[in-house]
Amino acid sequence: MFLPLSAAKIRWLKVVVFIACLIPALLLGYNVLTNNISGDPVEAMTHVSGEWALRFLLITLAITPLRRLLNLPDLIKFRRMLGLYAFFYAFSHLMVYIVFDQFFDWTAIINDILERKYIFAGMLALVLMIPLAITSTNGWVKRLGGKRWQKLHKLVYLIAIAAVTHFIWLVKADFTEPAIYAFILTVLLVYRLIAHRKKKLTQIKLA
Ligand code: HEM
Repeated sequence: MFLPLSAAKIRWLKVVVFIACLIPALLLGYNVLTNNISGDPVEAMTHVSGEWALRFLLITLAITPLRRLLNLPDLIKFRRMLGLYAFFYAFSHLMVYIVFDQFFDWTAIINDILERKYIFAGMLALVLMIPLAITSTNGWVKRLGGKRWQKLHKLVYLIAIAAVTHFIWLVKADFTEPAIYAFILTVLLVYRLIAHRKKKLTQIKLA
């Protein structure tokens, strides 16, 4: 039987989760600043920020199935923070690309987007994350209304598909890692499709 956590416990847990989600960025920053990176630091910053952006995106998408499968409705209270962390790492990833990879060379960046399909897919994912990050507040939920807000936030599925595609298209040899992310995303999307169909069927039966 599910016992809801007290508001105080949720608040504490949120602090712990907030700090835990920041650790990859802090570790990366520390390793770069102390020169404790093997290989090119810009490559390391790109890869670590990109991987964590994708991981937080999939963790955010896993909240709904997990809360049902584990009977933990309180998990939903962490979804906004995890979604914003996906945006934080994706935005940092973009900044590494603009500042350290392309040195603010806007012509080269635009050419990159037009010529390299993996960059286009990455950019698409990030641009679509912006309205979701902006409208993640309670104020925007009220302003848009629950139905329109939920409709807008369904973009997360397209964002996740674009981000995984970005990873698949950038890989030259070993597809193991992007394949794992693609598999996890497929499971999460299929779970939703089945849940959606079940809901529809129940509605038809009740009608
Ligand atoms: C704003 C647009 C983006 C640009 C310009 C961009 C650019 C890049 C570049 C240059 C790489 C390294 C490619 C290489 O190793 O040859 C990369 C890797 C990656 N990016 Fe992006 N990216 C963008 C958006 C995103 C987003 C939104 C996500 C996830 C939500 C993401 C996830 C990844 C991942 C997972 C990798 C591979 C990391 C690895 O190899 O370990 N990227 N990206």
